[in-house]
Amino acid sequence: MNKHVLLAICGGIAAYKSAELVRLLRKQGAEVRVIMTRSAREFISPLTFQALSGNPVHTELLDIDEENAMGHINLARWADVVIIAPATANTIAKCAHGLADDLVSTLFLAATCPIYIAPAMNQAMWNKSITQNNIRQLESYGVTIIGPNVGDQACGETGFGRMAEPAEICQLLLAEPETGILQGVKVLISAGPTREYIDPVRYITNRSSGKMGYELARAAAKAGANVTLVSGSVNLVAPTGLKLVQIETAAQMYNAVIAQAGDADIYIGAAAVADYSPVITEKDKIKKQAEQTNLVLQQTKDILAEVARLSNAPFTVGFAAETNDLEAYAQEKLLNKNLDMIAANWVGQEQGGFDSEQNALEVFWDKGHTSLAMTDKNQLAEQLINLIATKFNEKNRV
Ligand code: CTP
Repeated sequence: MNKHVLLAICGGIAAYKSAELVRLLRKQGAEVRVIMTRSAREFISPLTFQALSGNPVHTELLDIDEENAMGHINLARWADVVIIAPATANTIAKCAHGLADDLVSTLFLAATCPIYIAPAMNQAMWNKSITQNNIRQLESYGVTIIGPNVGDQACGETGFGRMAEPAEICQLLLAEPETGILQGVKVLISAGPTREYIDPVRYITNRSSGKMGYELARAAAKAGANVTLVSGSVNLVAPTGLKLVQIETAAQMYNAVIAQAGDADIYIGAAAVADYSPVITEKDKIKKQAEQTNLVLQQTKDILAEVARLSNAPFTVGFAAETNDLEAYAQEKLLNKNLDMIAANWVGQEQGGFDSEQNALEVFWDKGHTSLAMTDKNQLAEQLINLIATKFNEKNRV
């Protein structure tokens, strides 16, 4: 194996651990090239990395000699994987916001291969919500964060902020990608709320952040699926590596989903589709007149039921949000809509559901049931995707 590893080193005391990382990577047969920020060079000399990697170390963004030898674009093209270790709060912030004012941040932008970041900093800096938001932002762009670990810090404090150990980083970087449980499977997911317009400035909608649908899309893509995400208006960054179709109304969602469903292997209806829409959408803004007024609504098409009714229907998974009698309603929807599976959650309770980062699900299928306990939506999505993949594979084997 001679994987091309591009190691970017930022200024922090943990930079000394990066020397060991280069040694381990080379021992495993990887080819390593090193780039360093200016402050990294205050902690450890480029010469150390040149000797350990067997390659010249790059430090400047605009250096005629270096650009002639191997410029930043060529370095990005050369890499099979990029690791920033240690990554300081400053470089993390720059990468999260697309700044490109030095070699490391520019390379981060230019790289199209998988990118890993091993943060190292004082525990208070790590815990600051600005840093945590930047980390979440990077994760949403598909960057993998390794560590940091907990323990004593060079500054004398104790907590999260120590760079992950070189052996741990080496193992993750050189691990061969696992063939996912949904490798090559076409997964169609609907997410978020719909908007049913009353007039140009008013609409009826459902309470839904779209988080669960987006996390399911991310988890399915991670499991190797070709994902199409049909999304209502949400305030979320779409995961990379999938096809995003943006819609507003239930009718638009219906058209987008039906257009793709015949070609899909799995459909997951995670959207909060409005059950009713106004019979008439006024062209002009409605003026305030009578003390009371009526709005005439008509039922929207049930997208989930329509998909399950197709002659070449995909493995169809529905959601149910219930305030009472959860199991009875979920079982009824499973049967009436002819679904393969339904994931039900309680709403209107104190924890979980709508705008929360966490949720719990009761999942039902023909003669089967499992409970997925309260956890972060990204974890929950991975568990549900595993379950869907297992049942989908079972059905296809029959
Ligand atoms: N759904 C859909 N199209 C609709 C309404 C709902 O595809 N027009 C889907 C949702 O995406 C979800 C499932 O149906 O996967 C359950 O939605 P829900 O509104 O809870 O079920 P309903 O059958 O509409 O029943 P009720 O609102 O009476 O609980």
